[in-house]
Amino acid sequence: MVVAGPGLARADAAETLRALAGIAYRPALASWIDTRPATIQCLEIIAEQFYKGGETLARSLSSRHPIVVHTSRLSLGTPGALDRRELDWFVSLVREVKPLWVSEHLGFRRTAEVDLGYPTPIPLDANTLSVFVDHCREVMDRCGKLLLVENIASPLTITSALSEPEFLNRLCDASGCGLLVDLTALVVNSRQHRFAAGSWLARIVPTHVVQLHVGGAALRNGVWLDTHGEDVDAEVWALAADLLARAPIRAIVLERDERFPPASDLAAELRRVSSLVRGRLIESFAPGRRDP
Ligand SMILES: [Fe+2]
Repeated sequence: MVVAGPGLARADAAETLRALAGIAYRPALASWIDTRPATIQCLEIIAEQFYKGGETLARSLSSRHPIVVHTSRLSLGTPGALDRRELDWFVSLVREVKPLWVSEHLGFRRTAEVDLGYPTPIPLDANTLSVFVDHCREVMDRCGKLLLVENIASPLTITSALSEPEFLNRLCDASGCGLLVDLTALVVNSRQHRFAAGSWLARIVPTHVVQLHVGGAALRNGVWLDTHGEDVDAEVWALAADLLARAPIRAIVLERDERFPPASDLAAELRRVSSLVRGRLIESFAPGRRDP
């Protein structure tokens, strides 16, 4: 099955690429990942876990697996210039591991004075779109890699001029970035804030979507959370299958962050991810792709 993405302005526009099933690297999974299970076709690493001493491990992982680099520390939604030191660290790691692409969240996390510890929602309007477009372009220019922006889960909602799908579509069109759609975050928000996840997805331009995150969710004290501490949610599997039918998705990455099951259970979930992407060849996979 070949899924056509948008055309590229580069000579490699006719290139076709195999879609990959991967897992998010976590220290608790290191010994299993070291056995190089055949089900792991790519690894997603969190950049900040490999700064200042972790570069050797990052290089080692990248020598064994195709890598994508994820971060939550660039805080693309913070007005003003990106943190120079943080961006320099990120770019340095990207140069070490030569990832397929990089990713950051749709949100605000930090200023020079305060770090909230995780991305939080921002108002979605023309002003924040302009901030995001500038920051996405800068990250891609510095890294020489495609940047994907990921939707986040939050118990908070902010009434905004633009809907989230509209903001993300405009961001991709204006900056050349792509999307990492976290289906678990989407499902969690849809349950918490009572909207239809399928309707949200239907409003996203499919050719913007490059990667998916899948994982488990939990209801704790009346609040839905994307804990990544459970098996992949049934609704997440259904949405993934639905989206794969129309979007040129390059990779699906399984996220697990707590209550780690036996490796055989994770391998079984990865096999299910593999079965979704098996045989899929992606033609010109991303808008505005910027390989060095
Ligand atoms: Fe995610």
